[in-house]
Amino acid sequence: MAAKRKAKKVTTVRPMPRLIAAKRDGEALSADEIRAIIAGYTDGSVPDYQLSALAMAIYFQGMTPAETAALTLAMRDSGSVVDTSSIAGKKIDKHSTGGVGDKVSICLAPLVAACGVKVPMVSGRGLGHTGGTLDKLEAIPGFSVDMTTKRFVRLVGKNGCALIGQTKDIAPADKRLYALRDVTGTVESIPLITASILSKKLAEGIDGLVLDVKVGRGAFMKTRKDARALARSIVRVGALSKTRVTAILTSMDQPLGCAVGNGLETAEAFEVLTGGGPEDLVEITMALGAEMLRMAGLSRTETQARAKMAQAIADGSAADVMERIIKDQGGDPRVVRELDRLPQAPKKTVVRAEATGYVKAIDGLEVGLACMNLGAGRSRADQEVDPAVGAVLHAKVGDRIEKGAPVATVHARDAKQARVAAKRILGAYETTSRRTKRPTLVLETIRK
Ligand code: URA
Repeated sequence: MAAKRKAKKVTTVRPMPRLIAAKRDGEALSADEIRAIIAGYTDGSVPDYQLSALAMAIYFQGMTPAETAALTLAMRDSGSVVDTSSIAGKKIDKHSTGGVGDKVSICLAPLVAACGVKVPMVSGRGLGHTGGTLDKLEAIPGFSVDMTTKRFVRLVGKNGCALIGQTKDIAPADKRLYALRDVTGTVESIPLITASILSKKLAEGIDGLVLDVKVGRGAFMKTRKDARALARSIVRVGALSKTRVTAILTSMDQPLGCAVGNGLETAEAFEVLTGGGPEDLVEITMALGAEMLRMAGLSRTETQARAKMAQAIADGSAADVMERIIKDQGGDPRVVRELDRLPQAPKKTVVRAEATGYVKAIDGLEVGLACMNLGAGRSRADQEVDPAVGAVLHAKVGDRIEKGAPVATVHARDAKQARVAAKRILGAYETTSRRTKRPTLVLETIRK
C-alpha cells in the first residue's frame, strides 16, 4: 500500500564541502542539490559531521521557501508516502507544536471523524516534561499504536481514524536529522522545523493539515513573533507542496485543561467526547475541529462546523468512534465512558492555597517537571512512563482561590513523591489580590 517515490534525476550537484560553504555564505541551494544531500544522508554517504555543519549554516542563513519546500519533499521521500487513495473523503490531520497538558489529538481526532473527516494520525512520544500522544494513548489497557501500513489504511477507512506511532518508513531522514539537530544547537531554525514537521505529515498521505502553533512560556515557540514566523513558513511550504495548511496560533501561558500526566490526560480528553471537559480544552478542540471540517468541505462556516461537532458529542457518536478505534487497536473500549478503568495512582494528595487571591499565571514548565519527576515523562528516549501519575489542577488563570481551598490534586506512587510534586506545583501558581482575566485562547489564524 505504501508507494515508494522514485528520486528525481540529479543534474549538477556540487560536492558537499562546497554546498556547505555556499549555504554558509548565504547562497540558495537548488532543489537537485537538496535532494542529493538528503539522499546521501539517508544512504550514509553524507556523514553526520557534514550535515551538522550544513544545519548550522541553515540556522544562520535561513532558506528560501523554495529551498524549504525542496527539503520537505526530499525528507518525505526518504521513506514512503502512505497510499490513502482507497479511502473515500478528505484526509485531514492536525499537528500541534505541543505543550503541557496538550491532549487535544485524543478528543479531536474521533470527534471530527464522527463528522466525516478521515484522520490518518501518526503521533510521537514525549521527551522531557511532556508526554506525547502515544504515551497518553498507551495508558488505555491493551491499546497498541503499532500496526502495518495496510491495516492503518483499512482502519482509517473503517473508523474514520486510526492513531499510530511513527514507522521506520515515515520520513527516516527527519528522524536522524532531528536527533542530530538536538545535539548540535540547530533545533530552533524555522526552515528546519518546517521541513521536519511537514515531511512527516505529508508522508501520511493527507489532503490538508491544521497546525496548532502554541505560544507562551510553556510552549516550544515562546513569542507570538516566532510562532507567526513558523506558522507562515509551514502554510507557505504546504502550498508549494500542494497541501492545504491552516495554522492557528493558540496561547499556552498555563497548562491546557486541568490534567497533566498520561492516563489523567486521556481521561480528560474522553470527558470532552462525552460532553464535559474543561472550557479551554473544549474551545481549542472546537476551533481546530471547525477548521478541519471546513478544509474537508463538510461545513461551509465555522458556526456550522461547531454545530456539527456539538451534535456528535450530544448524540454519542464521537464517543462511539473512539470506542471503535480503541477496540480495533486492541484496547478496552469501556474506558471512554468508565474513566476509572484507566490506570489509577495509589497516592492522591490535595495541594491547598496558602493565601486568598486570583490566579495570575501557572508556570506550565514547572507543573510539567513536577509530573515528570513523578514518572509521567522521560529524560531519556528509552525510559518507560508511568501512565497513572500526574496532577489535576482545580484552579486556572482568572479563578479566585480562598486560603486553604484545593488548587490541585497530585496522583503519585508514594507519599514522599507526592509531597515533592505538591510543593513544586504550588510554586508554579502566581497569584495576585487583583481580579485577573482568563487568557484569550485563539490568537490568530493563518491561511494561504
Ligand atoms: N517538532 C518536530 O517534529 N520537528 C522539529 O524540528 C521541531 C518540533
